Amino acid sequence: MRSKIVAGNWKMNKSLEEAKALTSEIMAMVADEVKGDTKIVLCTPFPYLLSTKNQLGTNSRIEVGAQNCSEHDSGAYTGETSASMIKSIGIPYVIIGHSERRQYFGEDGKLLAKKVDKVLASELTPIFCCGEPLEIREAGTHEALVKKQVEESLFHLTAKAVQKVVIAYEPVWAIGTGKTATSQQAQDMHAVIRTYLAERYGKEVAENISILYGGSVKPDNAREIFSCPDVDGGLVGGASLKSRDFVDIIKGA
Ligand code: 13P
Repeated sequence: MRSKIVAGNWKMNKSLEEAKALTSEIMAMVADEVKGDTKIVLCTPFPYLLSTKNQLGTNSRIEVGAQNCSEHDSGAYTGETSASMIKSIGIPYVIIGHSERRQYFGEDGKLLAKKVDKVLASELTPIFCCGEPLEIREAGTHEALVKKQVEESLFHLTAKAVQKVVIAYEPVWAIGTGKTATSQQAQDMHAVIRTYLAERYGKEVAENISILYGGSVKPDNAREIFSCPDVDGGLVGGASLKSRDFVDIIKGA
């Protein structure tokens, strides 16, 4: 059975002191208020990965994720961080192919396929992002584009490997805009993705893959979106920087 997951993507925000304070608030609220078995992930900036992990301690139900990694194993790639380095500090998740990486850093489907491979080779879980920009939604070709993104970067994987991937559908027009997809729009696209996975890998494999929704998830819309049958939680940006909002979103999963 697939897991429910709520992951916070902190993007490039917070000082170390602020990161520590936010983590400790989230820890306390989760301990007091969160029931059930929703997995919780904090995707912090690279400099805070290890301190966040140490702060959470070994028994925490909250895990840590990186926001990117290199497509290379090691070597002369100044400024880059490899999946194996992330593995070596005990961080289990890596976001791959966020639309901001695609848009501002020119990451394309072929490159992202390599990154997914590196993450899986290090036995980490990629949170693979897909999603269409506004003009594609308006042109009505959003399903075709998202299928292409999934195919380009994931369909080379074996059935065994693809079940280790978490997919996040994040329509670009809903990211940081306050304009969330309706629960129907989210459900429709998640069903398209799951059906496409089923066509490639079979229904049983497709049913095992968690597909998260991202894009202006807030406490007041999380519960409805997360209740859709093919939505298995969320990847949360802005609202994950506020402990109260983030924990309320987790409670909606
Ligand atoms: P917002 O929740 O701020 O719209 O960001 C979504 C996102 O990009 C998560 O990866």
